Amino acid sequence: MRTYAVTSGKGGVGKTNISANLAIALADRGQRVVVFDADIGLANLDVVLGSRTQYTLQQALTGEKRLSEVIQVGPGGIRLIAGGSGIESLINLSGPKAEAFLTQLNELERSTDILIFDTGAGIDENVMTFLGAADEILLVATPDPASLTDGYATAKAILARKPDASIRVVMNMVDGEQQGRMIYAKLTSISQQFLGVPLKYAGFVRSDQQALAHIRQRQPFYIANPHLPASLDIKGIAGVLLGEGLPQRHQSFTERMKGVIGGLLKAS
Ligand SMILES: Nc1ncnc2c1ncn2[C@@H]1O[C@H](COP(=O)(O)OP(=O)(O)OP(=O)(O)O)[C@@H](O)[C@H]1O
Ligand SMILES: [Mg+2]
Repeated sequence: MRTYAVTSGKGGVGKTNISANLAIALADRGQRVVVFDADIGLANLDVVLGSRTQYTLQQALTGEKRLSEVIQVGPGGIRLIAGGSGIESLINLSGPKAEAFLTQLNELERSTDILIFDTGAGIDENVMTFLGAADEILLVATPDPASLTDGYATAKAILARKPDASIRVVMNMVDGEQQGRMIYAKLTSISQQFLGVPLKYAGFVRSDQQALAHIRQRQPFYIANPHLPASLDIKGIAGVLLGEGLPQRHQSFTERMKGVIGGLLKAS
């Protein structure tokens, strides 16, 4: 299973819409995809997907429900997990509950090819948990003048906590390929110069009024119309993520989660 965490410094740059539509585009390519709403403040991945979630991770952590029961089937065959208050509980989980949860997580890992975390804006402890557990971080930026500074500050904060992080930039709301490449080039050159680390590129998503109309109607635009400019761009990003073949980690995702579930380490 490969894991991606979608993040940004600034809010409202398109993280949730990119998470949702990218998940669907990857499922379209035959991947078994789970999207996880890791935004504790403004959890709205279910709204963007047009499918209300009944339970959150919290019920799976308390043992009230099994993890498989809090997973909802969403559009395009993707599966969706709402983090909710379970995000904070996860970090403090300990003892038998943590072990039971990790066992279920292992089951999820075996039935999933790609797991995408949609995080909240800014790098706080909760967000860092998911960035730390992800194989790759998709850093969303826009052509907004503040976006370069913001993207750089976010990359810096991530690398300070996880020096080996693989960060890949997604340029959203651009007017075309050239603008996306140009801003990405500036961002990676600043990162290279001041942090000594280049950033990778995932691609761009054009600012798309038709896609926006679908967003407003709470329909994933990739499902509503896969031929829209924004849908084609998302398809391109899915191709980049699939075509490249990330290096396989020796440690499984569940193993790495053990590192962030503090209580389990203390208990064992
Ligand atoms: N490619 C696009 N074309 C047009 N509008 C877009 C595009 N991407 C995002 N938007 C607009 O930006 C808004 C915010 O998108 P989204 O909710 O995905 O951002 P976010 O980064 O998840 O926000 P938050 O930080 O609050 O979680 C959308 O409701 C839509 O109006
Ligand atoms: Mg969001």
